[in-house]
Amino acid sequence: MTASGLGAPFAAGRDADVYDLGGGRVLRRYRDGDVDTAPEAAVMAHVATHGYPVPTVYATRGPDLVMDRLDGPTMLGAFVAGTLPAEEGARILADLHTRLHALPPPAAAPPGTAVVHRDLHPENVVLTPHGPYVIDWRDALCGPPDLDLAMTALICAEVAVDPARQLAEAARALLVSFLAYAGGHPLGQLDTAAGIRAANPTLTPTEVARVDEAGALVVHSARDLRD
Ligand SMILES: Nc1ncnc2c1ncn2[C@@H]1O[C@H](COP(=O)(O)OP(=O)(O)O)[C@@H](O)[C@H]1O
Ligand SMILES: [Mg+2]
Repeated sequence: MTASGLGAPFAAGRDADVYDLGGGRVLRRYRDGDVDTAPEAAVMAHVATHGYPVPTVYATRGPDLVMDRLDGPTMLGAFVAGTLPAEEGARILADLHTRLHALPPPAAAPPGTAVVHRDLHPENVVLTPHGPYVIDWRDALCGPPDLDLAMTALICAEVAVDPARQLAEAARALLVSFLAYAGGHPLGQLDTAAGIRAANPTLTPTEVARVDEAGALVVHSARDLRD
């Protein structure tokens, strides 16, 4: 597939641009042309087989992935628009984790692991008329469910500790409610999660420098809930 004829992307994240193909389908293209989307598509197919809400994937080639276009705002968009209270968003996020980790893992999965998304935050959830759908499966693998909880908590906390972010206060409320709804033991995986976030090449140096502060907020919030 070439960029010609695609027009402008209708959405973009830190890694990919998303183009409307018509007929209810989109093309998601990594800007880094060396990325292979096949592993990501395989995870999406696995969770879809077990009824998890992901867009159906039709084709992959190198950095390109063709899938169903989802109808609705992202959870982040709903927060910005003021149409979704933080507590309701937290309940949805926690439920998406619980459902994902309850799926049968792929045959080759190590014991005690489940499919974990590792980037399940409000920009990667689309609120469709058929319920919330999860996108952006690049970081998914088989791992400990608590790592998934720790990643989501840490990403929320990163926004909460950034004074420049309009949604900092909402992110703090989201974090506290998410920890309450999600349960589990995310603190046991927090150091691993912090290492993963600090090594994420899409974070700016300023964002990387805030990961420790964000981790401290997760610890503090989790202890507040426990006490
Ligand atoms: N299947 C889809 N249907 C509708 N919008 C989508 C779809 N996939 C992605 N998007 C939009 O594109 C944005 C970026 O896609 P995403 O897969 O999260 O890429 P990135 O890895 O760059 O974050 C999403 O936040 C969402 O707004
Ligand atoms: Mg994304």
